[in-house]
Amino acid sequence: MNSPQTCLEIRGLDVHHGQLRAVTDLSLTVAERQVVAVIGANGAGKSTLLRCVAGILPASRGEILLDGVDVTRLPTHRRVALGIASVPEGRRLFGSLTVEENLRTGAYRHRAGPWDLAAVTELFPWMADRRRQRSSQLSGGEQQAVAICRALMSNPRVLLLDELSLGLAPVVVTRMYEALPRILESGCAVLLVEQDVSKALAMTDQVHCLLEGRTVLSGAPADLDRKSVEAAYFGIDRREAG
Ligand SMILES: Nc1ncnc2c1ncn2[C@@H]1O[C@H](COP(=O)(O)OP(=O)(O)OP(=O)(O)O)[C@@H](O)[C@H]1O
Ligand SMILES: [Mg+2]
Repeated sequence: MNSPQTCLEIRGLDVHHGQLRAVTDLSLTVAERQVVAVIGANGAGKSTLLRCVAGILPASRGEILLDGVDVTRLPTHRRVALGIASVPEGRRLFGSLTVEENLRTGAYRHRAGPWDLAAVTELFPWMADRRRQRSSQLSGGEQQAVAICRALMSNPRVLLLDELSLGLAPVVVTRMYEALPRILESGCAVLLVEQDVSKALAMTDQVHCLLEGRTVLSGAPADLDRKSVEAAYFGIDRREAG
């Protein structure tokens, strides 16, 4: 069997906020139809990493390749056009716009592909009936669904999801994760940030644990034991942890 094609490759990435180096020498790859999770404590650099991949923050060192093309210095809108779409932390919908209007903003720059208004709406069936409702009237889970669908409207190769689960009830989070296989079927890949370690280990193909901006542990969930992951997450020396 051929190994799946790499969609996104990050090599030796450093990202700064002023003097602070929030991501250091980070490398990872995400292959087609794969879900890769970045986990780590508050302030570990997870959102900084995703924002740099999206082009919102500049890289101070290293490279970001999309299907082998170097996008490291491209502005956000060009990355979207090439296939990097993101669902930012906190969803950031336009509250005064309707669901449908929010979705349409996602298609402003887009690639050819299967996702259009009808296709994304099928992903979450309640959405069709409520497409004329203002997004500010939706629940947190519904807003998250719209934010995901909005990102899909650009037909991404790589979907970046920051904190899918934030503030959502477990059953709602499960529903979000249930939508991932259908998203992957379109041939894209998902790089997500997850606070919930159990969720990351249960629902993804590869996990990278960040501590103060560096990868301290990574692997397929089946190859990682929970104790090592927790130790890496909290920065506990495993010899101390026993
Ligand atoms: N806009 C900013 N200006 C200055 N420093 C920032 C900025 N955004 C983040 N930082 C700092 O960069 C580091 C990494 O932050 P980041 O938001 O990437 O962490 P995170 O892993 O996403 O955390 P959380 O789990 O709380 O979302 C932290 O020390 C944070 O204080
Ligand atoms: Mg964050």
